[in-house]
Amino acid sequence: MAEEAILGFLQNNEQITDSGQFSAEFNLDHNEVVNVIKSLHGFRYIDVQDIKKETWVLTDEGKKYAAEGSPEVQLFLAVPEEGSISKDELQKKLAPSVFKIGCSQAGKNKWVEMGKQVSRKVKHVEDKVKGQLLQIQEGKESDKDSIISLKARKLIVPQIWKGYSVKKGPNYAPERKKVATDLTRENLQNWKELEFKEYNFEAKGAPLEAGHLHALLKVRKQFKDIFVQMGFEEMPTNNFVESSFWNFDALFQPQQHPARDSHDTFFLKVPSTTRTLPEDYVEKVKRVHETGGYGSRGYNYDWKREEANKNLLRTHTTAVSSRMLYALAQKPFVPKKYFSIDRVFRNEAVDRTHLAEFHQIEGLICDRGLTLGDLIGVLKDFFSRLGMSKLRFKPAYNPYTEPSMEIFSYHEGLGKWVEIGNSGMFRPEMLLPMGLPEDVRVIAWGLSLERPTMILYGIDNIRDLFGHKVDLDLIKRNPICRIGI
Ligand code: PHE
Repeated sequence: MAEEAILGFLQNNEQITDSGQFSAEFNLDHNEVVNVIKSLHGFRYIDVQDIKKETWVLTDEGKKYAAEGSPEVQLFLAVPEEGSISKDELQKKLAPSVFKIGCSQAGKNKWVEMGKQVSRKVKHVEDKVKGQLLQIQEGKESDKDSIISLKARKLIVPQIWKGYSVKKGPNYAPERKKVATDLTRENLQNWKELEFKEYNFEAKGAPLEAGHLHALLKVRKQFKDIFVQMGFEEMPTNNFVESSFWNFDALFQPQQHPARDSHDTFFLKVPSTTRTLPEDYVEKVKRVHETGGYGSRGYNYDWKREEANKNLLRTHTTAVSSRMLYALAQKPFVPKKYFSIDRVFRNEAVDRTHLAEFHQIEGLICDRGLTLGDLIGVLKDFFSRLGMSKLRFKPAYNPYTEPSMEIFSYHEGLGKWVEIGNSGMFRPEMLLPMGLPEDVRVIAWGLSLERPTMILYGIDNIRDLFGHKVDLDLIKRNPICRIGI
């Protein structure tokens, strides 16, 4: 509509002097006219020049008077033609602001006699203010004096109006030509009659949909870098299924331990048992559970092979540590620093901080003569690289470590100590049956990847971080990982 009007008008006229007047004349929406002008200008159908004008628009109060009449006229009309009305009575008939402004304006205009009683001084009044306001509302010109007085009464405010004057451009045509945009067979056959759209080399292409790293992967990378900087090697953790033997028995965890209950652990139905275990080592593990040895009294119970054979989803990556340490013990001893970050599974009720699976970060150092002081020192080094330099340790219990310590860090943001991990020195009952030399000690610690990630990214429900409820947009938008919990 607007396009036909503009191109049609220019066919018979030199120019459109003012897009605003043009819109009013042809009953078009000015915004639409402006859009069409921009588009036609882009194709050089028209040449344009900006017009900026200061115009006036009504304030809310102005709009009200344009509709209901000025307060002074409202007041005048509320005063009886003959006789008078008491001021109190008059006040009751009008809105408070209308009464107040009406009194002063009508008094100034000498329309009414103001006293305890109010009476008319003239027969008729004309609502000039309303008339002027309506004129401005309709976009018509107003005289200077009325603009000054309406502005002073805050019934109008200035507004910059933008429009255009328009002339024919170099590509002017009374109707927009459809340009060919593709080199199709048909278009090439009659290329002489066609006009082809020019290539726009400035155009930005559609943004590429690339992959995005999940927050857990970003934080995992940071942890991995720290381990590598500290000289740790990554352990192969590419098996979720473990036997109970490596997950529990090799770690000197008794077979009656509650963690080995199906309420805490996912056991496999198929295949329900492991195929092979190193038999002579199994024999030693059985012995240390039943009767002890290496200075230990053991647990004094009947150790059952069937229990050790049961397959499960590993409940901690310490299962991998136990296999790695056993493998290490089979060769002449060399010190090692190992780490892993991978998924573990626990048969837990799901809530805002627990899922039935999470990622465990595990580090261990195996060397001759290590002490608890070494463990504390390494933990301080490790966690300070994460921005956590205030640490506290609390005695704890794990079947496979002695001593064991929970690790707490002071969280500046939360203003409190938060538990961040678990640690300890692996027991001789675990290390000696493997065949490690007697003076070899292993210091180790474990923590979840989810907890620091949630703190770093300000996520307070684990289901927003992991699982089917995760918002993909959040993954696309989340910032690169910053360490400094
Ligand atoms: N396996 C422990 C856990 O699941 C972590 C840990 C690893 C503790 C190594 C001590 C030593 O929490």
